[in-house]
Amino acid sequence: MLILNNMTLDDLQAELERRNRAAEAGGGPERVERQHAAGKMAARERVELLLDEGTFEELDRLVVHDCHDFGMAAQTVPGDGFVTGYGEIDGRKVFVFAHDFTVMGGSLSAANAQKVCKVMDLAIKTGAPIIGLNDSGGARIQEGVASLAGYTDIFLRNTLASGVVPQISAVMGPCAGGAVYSPAITDFVFMVDKTSHMFVTGPDVIKTVTHETVTKEDLGGAETHNQRSGVAHFLAHDDRECLQMVRELFSYLPSNNLEDAPRLRTEDPDDRRDASLDTIIPAESQQPYDIKQIVTRVVDDGRFLEVQEGFAQNIVVGFGRLSGKSVGIVANQPAVLAGCLDINASLKAARFVRFCDAFGIPIVTFEDVPGFLPGIDQEYGGIIKHGAKLLYAYAEATVPKVTVITRKAYGGAYCVMGSKHLRTDINFAYPTAEIAVMGPEQAVNIVYRRELLSAGESADKLRQQKVDDFRTRFANPYVAAERGWVDEVILPRDTRPKLIRALKMLENKVDDTPRKKHGNIPL
Ligand code: HXC
Repeated sequence: MLILNNMTLDDLQAELERRNRAAEAGGGPERVERQHAAGKMAARERVELLLDEGTFEELDRLVVHDCHDFGMAAQTVPGDGFVTGYGEIDGRKVFVFAHDFTVMGGSLSAANAQKVCKVMDLAIKTGAPIIGLNDSGGARIQEGVASLAGYTDIFLRNTLASGVVPQISAVMGPCAGGAVYSPAITDFVFMVDKTSHMFVTGPDVIKTVTHETVTKEDLGGAETHNQRSGVAHFLAHDDRECLQMVRELFSYLPSNNLEDAPRLRTEDPDDRRDASLDTIIPAESQQPYDIKQIVTRVVDDGRFLEVQEGFAQNIVVGFGRLSGKSVGIVANQPAVLAGCLDINASLKAARFVRFCDAFGIPIVTFEDVPGFLPGIDQEYGGIIKHGAKLLYAYAEATVPKVTVITRKAYGGAYCVMGSKHLRTDINFAYPTAEIAVMGPEQAVNIVYRRELLSAGESADKLRQQKVDDFRTRFANPYVAAERGWVDEVILPRDTRPKLIRALKMLENKVDDTPRKKHGNIPL
């Protein structure tokens, strides 16, 4: 049958297949082989593994660059080194872009920046999350400013999409220079151990400028960013695990800021009480315990997805479900730095609270905090402005908020950690709660200083007596409960049913904030 320009349907089909094959071949079998040898999957393999089987619809697979300088005409690959499109995760739509390192090192050209912007625009318009799989040598050097412009177009969209649709970055190879700022704006950054690196300037430039010697692994490897800098939120051991982790995180998130996160069926009863919770908090108030033991006993099926597990371990944040619904959990960790709030803990928790608030995920806070961490480093580092971020984030949040004070709620940290005064809806306290301006020992040393100084040999006895008095009077939940700032004192065993009932009551919560362009969080 004659169709067009003397070509048969078979001819047309063959031409299309030839072009598609060229796109699928990327940089060719040798480079794909090199990619595998480096422990990395190819871009299409990653996309296929990330998405539900057979759901990927590729866009722009025939796009080519239009740069003809530096012999670039010869290096024309359909798709231009990026795989972009949409598909599904657990039946829910997501948009994806993936750098293909086998094509000019996955570098960003003007043409493939346009591809990325196209899927980002579609994601914003249709209210679906954006997932970027990064593996790139950065700006395509041969294209100069056109590539920089492309990056900046992406940064703009990252910013506009922030708080509208969830944005997830998986860094699965190099990510250097200004290119790091796209993942940095997104909500969650995954890194693959040993094969991914993020830095603004690499070891060679650092050596030249500051004469410091550092390996790229130490400077910007997955461990560095998961433990030291806090740039990354998750560490995976290989590509496969990374993509599986992205899918798991996605299960806790809504598709956009107007929808609810999916409710998952659970066999875990809403009214499950757990007597083992009654014995986790040590009788001695200075003794540490692991707050995660409480969190995992309370959430559905013991499943808790911790975010930034390796960073600022004195606070624990992550996702769980209660009665099948996603909740964001923020919990002081008495097992690390006694649960004190420091700069990093404040930053970590503030960003998490703001994510939950932006996407309608209720916040459950477990509080056991002796205060902000004292120290010259902390003060010079700006604990004042960083601690204020956490305060601001809690105060600003209008999602359902429920707080459980398990033990210490002292000083400014009492105010910050989801107190009633920051419009937290329901505040529970265990009978072990101690709510006061400061701990009994410190308080007695200040309030009774003169008396203690003049007590001579009986100072120790007097101090102990005053400490005991103080503890009886203030270090309990009842003073706050008498004022209505603790709604109910509950037994630890009842935590799950109490939280679930409170969150059900709050399901249709509407709260507002005075009209403004945006606030001025102390950045
Ligand atoms: C064009 C690039 C490239 C780039 C790598 N390639 N980076 N082509 N533009 N930016 C090409 C290489 O020429 C090579 O082509 C192929 O990709 C693989 O690169 P290799 O060097 O062989 O791979 P490897 O040894 O694994 O090293 C990877 C690398 C290194 C660490 C990423 O290539 C590298 O340092 N590249 C430059 C990184 C960089 O400085 N980029 C600019 C950052 S600044 P062949 O044909 O041999 O396979 C930036 C600004 C963004 O990005 C600003 C945004 C505002």
